[in-house]
Amino acid sequence: MPGMDEDVPSGAPPHQQGILSSDAASSSSSLSTLARNATAKPSLLLTGLSKALANPYHHTTSPLGIINLGTAENHLCFPELLEKFNSPEIRITTPDMLTYGNTYGSAPLLASIADLFNEFLRPCQAVVPADLTVHAGCGATISNVAQALTDPGDGILIPCPFYGGFDFDLTLYAQAKLVHVETSSHDNFLITPKACETAYANAVAAGTRVRVLLLTNPSNPTGLAMGPSEILSLLEWAKGRNLHVVSDEIYALSTWSNKNPFVSVLALPTLPDPQRTHVVWSFSKDFGSNGIRVGVFFSRDRQLLKAMHMFSILTNTSSLADRACANLLSDRKWVAWYVEENKKRMRESFEKTATALKRMRVPYIEPDSGFFVFVNLSRWIAPVGDASTTSHGPPSESAGWRGLWNRLIDAGIYILPGEAFSCRQPGFFRIVHTLNWDVVRLGLERLERVLDEVEVETASSHLKDMSVELFDMQKFHS
Ligand SMILES: Cc1ncc(COP(=O)(O)O)c(C=O)c1O
Repeated sequence: MPGMDEDVPSGAPPHQQGILSSDAASSSSSLSTLARNATAKPSLLLTGLSKALANPYHHTTSPLGIINLGTAENHLCFPELLEKFNSPEIRITTPDMLTYGNTYGSAPLLASIADLFNEFLRPCQAVVPADLTVHAGCGATISNVAQALTDPGDGILIPCPFYGGFDFDLTLYAQAKLVHVETSSHDNFLITPKACETAYANAVAAGTRVRVLLLTNPSNPTGLAMGPSEILSLLEWAKGRNLHVVSDEIYALSTWSNKNPFVSVLALPTLPDPQRTHVVWSFSKDFGSNGIRVGVFFSRDRQLLKAMHMFSILTNTSSLADRACANLLSDRKWVAWYVEENKKRMRESFEKTATALKRMRVPYIEPDSGFFVFVNLSRWIAPVGDASTTSHGPPSESAGWRGLWNRLIDAGIYILPGEAFSCRQPGFFRIVHTLNWDVVRLGLERLERVLDEVEVETASSHLKDMSVELFDMQKFHS
């Protein structure tokens, strides 16, 4: 996780203060370059999270605490997931679970994930256990694949906006360089080969060797799933540049819109470069269990899989998590029920959120997947902070979004600004809606209150400006 130097909450739980504070600063001269790099860069994700954790909302013990609609979690099927994970047939502990297992996943887990992929990702060519490796979460999986495919300083093309954790996952150990591919809200953040080519050519001209294109489908933070022709055009472009493509499909089973069904790269009738097309996935999102730490890598490149086996020695999941997930997936009837029910609940929570946003006249990108909605609050930004922000150029530290963000946190609602996802257009924020509806509703009410206050302040400052102008005109005429 990225370290952070700012805004360390005094009230954060002790176990979090260790991660979130820069208490190593006094002895930084004795740290390695890697450790200094890890702690040097402030992370918006962690800055905000530390504020939210310093005073978390609880309906009885801390009703004025901060409501966290910033962290991408899905609680909608917690009761059923807990019942399943706590059931005796899943929790069964055998002696082999107390010994070292296969570091890249037990045979039953790999077999059950292959079955899951074959049933839900609908690959054209069946996935077999030998195509898969398991690591401690998607973040560790992505870090490992970056280490396997890049040398320090090599480039990884990544369309913006993207999940902010990649900044860390791709750089901490692999020391890869993120090469941003620009997209725009005007065409729903469509990723085009042309934009990839521009980013690629600029990176190469600057002396960077680009090795990988990292796609996230469906997208975090927009919640948009890519269409098959969009994916194919990017795969074809990447083949022309001899690039590996890693498709992060961590929200594959969380596409709940009937309008735009999710299509995995594995489901395309022909893959332009099958040996260089890889997929990552994890239990974190689709099985609402960020804490379980089971991430999956798929590839048909045997050499790459061999490297992933080696990296898994230091990033393996625990035997307990391995067994629990294998047992859970082996109940295929339950999994089929769960996937549909989970989608239904996500669709309903989005619809309720969308109704509230429409009432508030907050524009948003219409998602078809995921736990969140990417809203455009630019109308409320300029009056709060520095109005100098434009819709072009890099996100600025002094941009007005920070004023609104801090004001929202002070009002007890934590959401993430687009800048945490390297979104170039200021004013976007990501709101997570897949929590208890009473909590989401209260969070949205707090958001509405702040936006209303900003509108009133803007109107009264306009009135003040107008009366000063009127006064000046009267003076001029008198
Ligand atoms: C697109 C994407 N990839 C990877 C991750 C990291 O997942 P994990 O919790 O399995 O490490 C996340 C977490 O939010 C994500 O949104």
